[in-house]
Amino acid sequence: MAVRDILIIPDKRLRLKSAAVQAVDKRLRALIEDMFETMYAAPGIGLAAIQIGVAKRVVTMDLAKKDEPKQPQVFINPEVVWSSDEKATYEEGCLSIPEYYEEVERPKAVKVTFLDLDLKPQEIEASGLLATCLQHEIDHINGVLFIDHISKLKRDMVMKKFKKAAKKTEGVKPLAEDEEPSHYIG
Ligand code: NI
Repeated sequence: MAVRDILIIPDKRLRLKSAAVQAVDKRLRALIEDMFETMYAAPGIGLAAIQIGVAKRVVTMDLAKKDEPKQPQVFINPEVVWSSDEKATYEEGCLSIPEYYEEVERPKAVKVTFLDLDLKPQEIEASGLLATCLQHEIDHINGVLFIDHISKLKRDMVMKKFKKAAKKTEGVKPLAEDEEPSHYIG
């Protein structure tokens, strides 16, 4: 197990459409372990495999609060199959866009199908934070970032800032140690 580096915008890999998982083998299990370790270390509440540079449709999540026992969840090949007309707005952040938060409007509730670790089909209906987090992470495996849901003006400003930072601090990890973890969706 290892904490892996998290890709930061403007890394082009974050725009890749990830490939469906065909088998849960030793390699995939190792990837999932690394994803949890990386997600907990960040800390974040959700992570898509592409955020550590692996273009596979795998999402890890843990929405447990600090004082609650861990609730690790894995979603393989997740897909939104239904979303409510009713919208909800939530202030989102992303481990791949550190220290930037913005309100994002999304469907309030979603139905998501996915495979579990035995490749058995599962379905969940989610609302609240889980619905937001699932949509955010499923966006990631389709190469979509939460800033794609905000105004172009704001998005351009964020991209500009990160492009500039990437040039200046090549190889330096921009994550600070005392960041507020609850803001990071993944
Ligand atoms: Ni994210």
